[in-house]
Amino acid sequence: MAKKNGKTVFVCQECGYESPRWMGQCICGAWNSFVEEKVYDETDDSRSRSGKGASRPSEGVKGRSKPQRLSSVTSGQSTRIDTGIGELNRVLGGGLVKGSLTLISGDPGIGKSTMIIQAASHICKALGTVLYVSGEESEEQIKMRADRVCKEGTGDLYVLSETSMEAVIAAVDQLDPKFLIIDSIQTMYTDEYDSAPGSVSQVRACGNLLMNLGKGRDIPVFIVAHVTKSGELAGPKIVEHMVDTVLQFSGERSQDLRILRALKNRFGTTSEIGAFEMREEGLVEIENLSASFLEGLEDSSAGAVATAVYEGTRPLLLEIQALTAPTNVGFARRTAIGVENSRLGMIVAVLERKASLSLINRDIYVNVVGGMRPEGTSIDLAVALAIWSDEKAAKLPSGFIAIGEIGLTGDLRPVRSADKLIREADRMGFKAMMLPRRSVEKLPEKPKNMRLIGVTSLAEAIKEAAKLAERI
Ligand SMILES: Nc1ncnc2c1ncn2[C@@H]1O[C@H](COP(=O)(O)OP(=O)(O)OP(=O)(O)O)[C@@H](O)[C@H]1O
Ligand SMILES: [Mg+2]
Ligand SMILES: [Zn+2]
Repeated sequence: MAKKNGKTVFVCQECGYESPRWMGQCICGAWNSFVEEKVYDETDDSRSRSGKGASRPSEGVKGRSKPQRLSSVTSGQSTRIDTGIGELNRVLGGGLVKGSLTLISGDPGIGKSTMIIQAASHICKALGTVLYVSGEESEEQIKMRADRVCKEGTGDLYVLSETSMEAVIAAVDQLDPKFLIIDSIQTMYTDEYDSAPGSVSQVRACGNLLMNLGKGRDIPVFIVAHVTKSGELAGPKIVEHMVDTVLQFSGERSQDLRILRALKNRFGTTSEIGAFEMREEGLVEIENLSASFLEGLEDSSAGAVATAVYEGTRPLLLEIQALTAPTNVGFARRTAIGVENSRLGMIVAVLERKASLSLINRDIYVNVVGGMRPEGTSIDLAVALAIWSDEKAAKLPSGFIAIGEIGLTGDLRPVRSADKLIREADRMGFKAMMLPRRSVEKLPEKPKNMRLIGVTSLAEAIKEAAKLAERI
């Protein structure tokens, strides 16, 4: 047990940094993030006051200090647990790993509890007892949600409305669950500290207890964490380091689309996304992701161009919108959502210098519809064409899509695995795709219903687009 020694210290609630005095701004950059907490003497090596050692995952595996021959260590890969939710399995890297700690974060009301209880209902059917601990909702509330969203029933799913870690540990000892859920870490506290739930020392201590529980019993643990307004994990970054996987659940609450991502994953890539629709009956996996991102594109207008990207290993079609307007405050604004500002600046410069589109004294706004932040450069051409299209009030025909990276010289560079993007666009019913000529040349087979317009430079792309636009 840690013992209080009467002293206090100021702890940054964002990063866990400690200072003997209050500070307005922390070294991590956070403002007004310091809270006074009591100092504890170290008598338990599972935790250190500085948090440096305590946050290291290896310390969660207690009492296994004997070196083992790597070849004799059994691999956890073979014991992946199917969560019953394909999109969740995919983001986790192929299912849940035994003994792993997974943190799921997201805005209030986004559907964290819904997703977890849906997974729990499947896992309890396959594996046996699952314990769902909620510090936020009563058993009745959880039951109401489960009745609404758990199609497979809740056989051996146990709920516990509790905030004390000691009570949780006792329940785990009694039930011996195969899967443990804590909703949420910010509501939990351990008697070992008397600071408030959600404070750095409580979150860190509860995180450590959960890690020992999960690794010690070789059961997966899911921990819900809230995020602050700025989108950071509320409370300390320390938990992020402690856990194996950090999932982020996001989406517009006004729309039904929900996207699940891994921000950190010790058992898989972080480039896969999972897509869901929030419905009355719970989260429904979206199989045809492109369709939901392209809603509303049919009534095409100037400034809107479809494009294709890779999200993980999946091709995804998106709509890029651009708006240009006269500048009235001296210097022109370039504002982008979903595209890096520096990338937009480069595209605009190439449009001006290599494609003779004058954008001086024009404000430019670019938006990737649906809240995606596509990685890679395959959207460059669509961004450029959307700006050109709005600036010239030239409407591109519906069924038009563009991919290609733009180089500083104004030439178009081929897109990685363009064939998969082409196939997806063809499948989604697009009629014409503009793309770098070299991508067309490399193509093993032509699409069935879609025409390919190969171009070598941005200037040529705009010339071709102008021909198409005139036709409508
Ligand atoms: N009866 C219902 N019909 C349809 N959707 C519902 C219904 N009740 C709740 N929802 C949806 O579920 C969402 C809340 O889901 P959930 O409680 O899983 O979110 P959460 O991320 O756990 O929230 P919190 O941060 O409050 O714990 C609501 O925002 C709403 O979109
Ligand atoms: Mg919840
Ligand atoms: Zn800090």
